[in-house]
Amino acid sequence: MQVISDIKEAQILCQKWQDEGESISFVPTMGCLHDGHLSLIDKAKSLADHVVVSIFVNPLQFDDINDLLKYPGTLEDDRSKLAEVDVSLVFIPHASSFYPEGEDNVEQIELGEITSILEGAHRPGHFAGVATVVKRLFKIIQPNFAIFGDKDFQQLMVIKQLVKKFSLDINIIGMPIFRENDGLAMSSRNIHLSKSERKKSAEIYRQLESVKSAIKAIAHPGLADFADLEQSTSKNLIAAGFTPEYVAIRQVDTLLPAKNHDSALVILVAAKIGKIRLIDNILV
Ligand code: PAJ
Repeated sequence: MQVISDIKEAQILCQKWQDEGESISFVPTMGCLHDGHLSLIDKAKSLADHVVVSIFVNPLQFDDINDLLKYPGTLEDDRSKLAEVDVSLVFIPHASSFYPEGEDNVEQIELGEITSILEGAHRPGHFAGVATVVKRLFKIIQPNFAIFGDKDFQQLMVIKQLVKKFSLDINIIGMPIFRENDGLAMSSRNIHLSKSERKKSAEIYRQLESVKSAIKAIAHPGLADFADLEQSTSKNLIAAGFTPEYVAIRQVDTLLPAKNHDSALVILVAAKIGKIRLIDNILV
């Protein structure tokens, strides 16, 4: 396993692999690796000759400076986890070389409406920051495959849009959400939950499961049913100690409001417990 911080060096190594006809799958991360990340790496290994994992806490995608400051850094731990699963390259760039023009001067990528709804509405600029960092990472690594988690469902859609907009020849693969035994979606942020918050947090998944069952139980659910379900789920989350930001039943392919039972649906939730913001979703 090679560990490289220098952009040019990483680029040359990946180019050499490509020149030799060896394929690359890429898993971008912000570190603090958990089993969810490792499931993406597993998939990556099954797809290509080389797996590249990046660890970079991208300042551009944090709309809240406190969130950035307290983002958990566990580099030593991450490196040993990656050595165990034996990836070819861990790329750990520094912000100063990644954004040589200065973070405030970076020309950010805009991808239209998908970036301004749901997460985008609550975290202005977040997806422009994600698209910008991922595009630069793609340019350095030049992967054949890039693996992302359904956990960040909207992010996955943004990345697909990015690839389409710039006609990038990269296969984008989405992977199911990896959960704790009680259903809580694994996340680097779970580290910050107190014991009692951690215990309560599984309620989000229980609510998602229950909305999913409710939708399935209605023969022909329509707009009014969806609005009712969103509202009652919000109330249930409040009663369980959360501050919900949204509960949204949306069409899978557009993330626009679901209108009827014909379209494939996804239920998305963002809710705070104490100071920690959690997101989760489930496909119907
Ligand atoms: P990060 O939060 O570290 O997540 C890296 C990848 O792991 C993302 O594709 C995310 O969806 C996936 N992931 C996180 N938790 C997961 C879980 N419980 N099950 C399955 N996959 C999970 O997402 C980012 O970093 C950044 O925005 C990034 C894409 C690296 C750009 O900076």
